[in-house]
Amino acid sequence: MNVSEAIATRRSVRAYAARPVERAVIEDLLSAAALAPSAMNTQPWAFGVIQDAARLQAYSDSTKAALLTTITPGSPLERYREMLTDPEYHIFYHAPALVVIYGTPASPCPQNDCSLAAMTLMLAAWEQGLASCWIGFALSVFNDPTIKAELGVPTDYTAVAPLILGYPASETPVPEKNPPAILFWEG
Ligand SMILES: Cc1cc2nc3c(=O)[nH]c(=O)nc-3n(C[C@H](O)[C@H](O)[C@H](O)COP(=O)(O)O)c2cc1C
Repeated sequence: MNVSEAIATRRSVRAYAARPVERAVIEDLLSAAALAPSAMNTQPWAFGVIQDAARLQAYSDSTKAALLTTITPGSPLERYREMLTDPEYHIFYHAPALVVIYGTPASPCPQNDCSLAAMTLMLAAWEQGLASCWIGFALSVFNDPTIKAELGVPTDYTAVAPLILGYPASETPVPEKNPPAILFWEG
């Protein structure tokens, strides 16, 4: 698969096969992510991996409960209330692995740098037959000071990109994508 094919066919996948992801495969993906561009080549990222289903279930449960307390009438999260109340809904979709990309204070813009590392990882994964999905819902749990201490994450690191990983269980429909809005093209 070349880069164009990977870009064109990658999907955010929310249904995974039970097959675990081998440690060596994840290590290769982290190495690919670490090749991403970054401001001043600061490479301001660090990675955490969770392959423990019980821990992911616990984080899913606590995140759903916490998010529900933040929903006020008119909040953008209102549309997710029903989903977050559903006991069957798992914010990590029972994926066998989660990679969390943390931004370090080394860069003036770790959010940008880590997002590029995340995209690089997602494309590298797709090329190897592995799917992914960025789980923005999980940012609160991985930026919670208690959870950071539990996982040994330095207090001044910020969770930017929680990415689930796994072998897809089925084909994912192609989401609708808009053509690029071109605001200017001078010269
Ligand atoms: C910053 C960010 C946060 C996201 N958070 C979630 C999430 O919490 N749960 C989820 O199911 N998908 C999440 N997604 C995946 C998007 O829904 C998905 O990228 C979008 O629907 C387009 O589909 P595609 O990735 O297959 O092109 C997130 C994506 C991004 C970039």
